[in-house]
Amino acid sequence: MPDKPRGPESLAFQPGCPYGIHRVIEPEGVLPQAAWKLDNSPVIRDNEILIDVGTLNIDAASFKQIVSTAKPGASPAEKREHVARTVSDIVSRRGKMHNPVTGSGGMLLGRLRQFGPKAPRRGGAKEGDFVATLVSLSLTPLRIDKIKEVHLDKDQVDIEGTAVVFESGPYAVIPPDFRKTLALALLDVAGAPAQVARLVGKGDTVLVLGAGGKSGLISSAVAREKVGPEGKVIAVAHSKASTERAMKLGAADVVLSADAKDAISTMVAVLKANGGRKADVTINCVSVPGTEMASILCTQSRGKVYFFSMATSFTAAALGAEGVGADVELIIGNGYAEDHAEIALELLRQNQKLRAILEDMFPGE
Ligand SMILES: NC(=O)c1ccc[n+]([C@@H]2O[C@H](COP(=O)([O-])OP(=O)(O)OC[C@H]3O[C@@H](n4cnc5c(N)ncnc54)[C@H](OP(=O)(O)O)[C@@H]3O)[C@@H](O)[C@H]2O)c1
Repeated sequence: MPDKPRGPESLAFQPGCPYGIHRVIEPEGVLPQAAWKLDNSPVIRDNEILIDVGTLNIDAASFKQIVSTAKPGASPAEKREHVARTVSDIVSRRGKMHNPVTGSGGMLLGRLRQFGPKAPRRGGAKEGDFVATLVSLSLTPLRIDKIKEVHLDKDQVDIEGTAVVFESGPYAVIPPDFRKTLALALLDVAGAPAQVARLVGKGDTVLVLGAGGKSGLISSAVAREKVGPEGKVIAVAHSKASTERAMKLGAADVVLSADAKDAISTMVAVLKANGGRKADVTINCVSVPGTEMASILCTQSRGKVYFFSMATSFTAAALGAEGVGADVELIIGNGYAEDHAEIALELLRQNQKLRAILEDMFPGE
């Protein structure tokens, strides 16, 4: 007797674990994020959702790391080809876009194709809607059929392929007042505004490292609102372009340009700009490794350091703080916070200056 149809249109759904453990190929017994390899088959279980993927938004630290391994002096076209090859290779080996060097993923934009009968229809989502996944690509079963275009300036890769979201995985329908490319970029860092709002209080001095990047601009805008007129925001950007963006936003009282890998010089510059005082709260939004100590040294005793950056090393931060006798609270940037997507979208609706800068950074459909 022939097998029952098991294609995406099949109604014979098998039950699935809410956290997607049934997708783990190796090693056995771990959750999908910790797994080396996932089953990326587009045949869904009763609690899964199948998405036709249009664009991958690769995590900034991951994208930067991949580009950095292109041959020295590579042209933009060669870099695009290198990124396409590397992404393809990682996904075909792992069944997910989980960069083995940085450990980070990103998220994706796609169209909802099929819901298992027990899969949650968040916000009334239906087949055909465009959504951004709010779970990391480092745990999302992904199959790439074709790489269409690599956008070096946006850390995005247009593809044809499928992805699977588990019952426990949040996703957001792209609202009609947002272009898809912008929404995708914004929702990638949606954890930042929600958490910065919780960490920063009235009158605080807040330091943002990587302040001219996507999450840095957003965090600076939220910090400005929260500290009020009696507080202070210090933005540390890097290149000329990102420094200009931080200045244009106008959220910071002081905008500096520094290499956050150079902890001492960064600390000296911050102290000079802030009357010899360190920050109460430091937000690290830098996309390269090696900036833990700048964050720690710029923060006053019993202050908070929020490591949103995926390039952060737990050991470098914990042992580094101990090594310089810094009694600071070290906080890992959880990618998820309750209502984080709505908070991020609403921030852009309210802050037209921030929206215009991000629109410029993320043009497209
Ligand atoms: N925790 C989470 O859930 C989560 C989610 C998404 C992303 N992330 C992480 O958050 C970080 C920022 O992401 P993003 O999307 O905002 O990236 P982004 O837009 O690329 O911004 C990163 C910024 O870091 C700056 N930078 C690079 N090298 C620097 C240096 N040596 N000193 C000072 N600044 C430097 C860059 O400035 P230039 O362009 O001028 O070099 C850029 O403005 C990344 O590490 C990413 O992996 C975390």
